[in-house]
Amino acid sequence: SKKILIDCDPGIDDALAIALAHGSPEVEVVGLTSVGGNVGLEHTTGNALCLSEFYGMDVPVARGADRPLLRAPREASDVHGPNGLGNVLLPAAAGKPLDRHAVEFIIDTLAASPGEISLTAVGPLTNIALALRKEPRITQWAKELVIMGGSYTRGNNTPAAEFNIAADPEAAAAVFSAPWQPVMVGLDLTLQARATAAVRSRFAGLGRFERELLSPCLDFYGEAVQYREGDGPPIHDACAVAYVIDPGLITTVTARVDVETHGRFTSGMTVTDFTGDSGPHNTLVATGLRHEAFWDLLTDAYTRVADP
Ligand code: BDR
Ligand code: CA
Repeated sequence: SKKILIDCDPGIDDALAIALAHGSPEVEVVGLTSVGGNVGLEHTTGNALCLSEFYGMDVPVARGADRPLLRAPREASDVHGPNGLGNVLLPAAAGKPLDRHAVEFIIDTLAASPGEISLTAVGPLTNIALALRKEPRITQWAKELVIMGGSYTRGNNTPAAEFNIAADPEAAAAVFSAPWQPVMVGLDLTLQARATAAVRSRFAGLGRFERELLSPCLDFYGEAVQYREGDGPPIHDACAVAYVIDPGLITTVTARVDVETHGRFTSGMTVTDFTGDSGPHNTLVATGLRHEAFWDLLTDAYTRVADP
């Protein structure tokens, strides 16, 4: 089966992305690494642990960077709640994070299985940038790097920038300019993955996962983003995991992506050029989602984690 390492800042949609990976027989989750993002690192690490135990996963969790490379942390607790999971309180974790830092864990895990692991980043790119700086060969060792972040049209954190890139633009700039071809699963794609009432009705009655986590989280998140997202909250991070499971679900095209780090109004913008004018194409940009198949995949996976 495919192997996936998820770098995340849970985060409601992060939690739903982890559940998708765990409930999908096509992939094996080889690790969860935490980063400060939606909420502070203590919460994102604690949530990664609690979630893995709640789902019944047997997976190492490594704690990563508590703040962006240069900037002050920028959180999104308005969208994810003060603890990162809406108002959901999971049972306290019995386990602990590894003694090793997430950056070490990422490097060692990729080194041990070169060409096999899909590195999937669904939070600010701080850990990935630090890992790259420490061990540039991760660009060769990762099977692929799939990023939930960016956009080739509009932003969400600011008019120009998506949250994960806006939170640490210098890290994102380092990651996009490294010698690999990341898959950018940005807002253009993820805003197509909305948990509408019709989608929600497919989840109803799945079991404990649905009752205690999925539905309360989506209620909170749907309420929080309603004013701007319209019909149902987008499950951003699950799209990146879905790409790893079945790339056929998502249309991609190559482009040149450069991350703006200086703009007064545009810091964190992923400036995307589909022509060759700005330089060689360095990114696979996600553009279209096969809706039915995507929600089938989520529903199947969530049925498998139904009664953890
Ligand atoms: C991204 O930002 C976070 O709030 C979400 O978890 C997702 O990773 C969407 O812009
Ligand atoms: Ca996230």
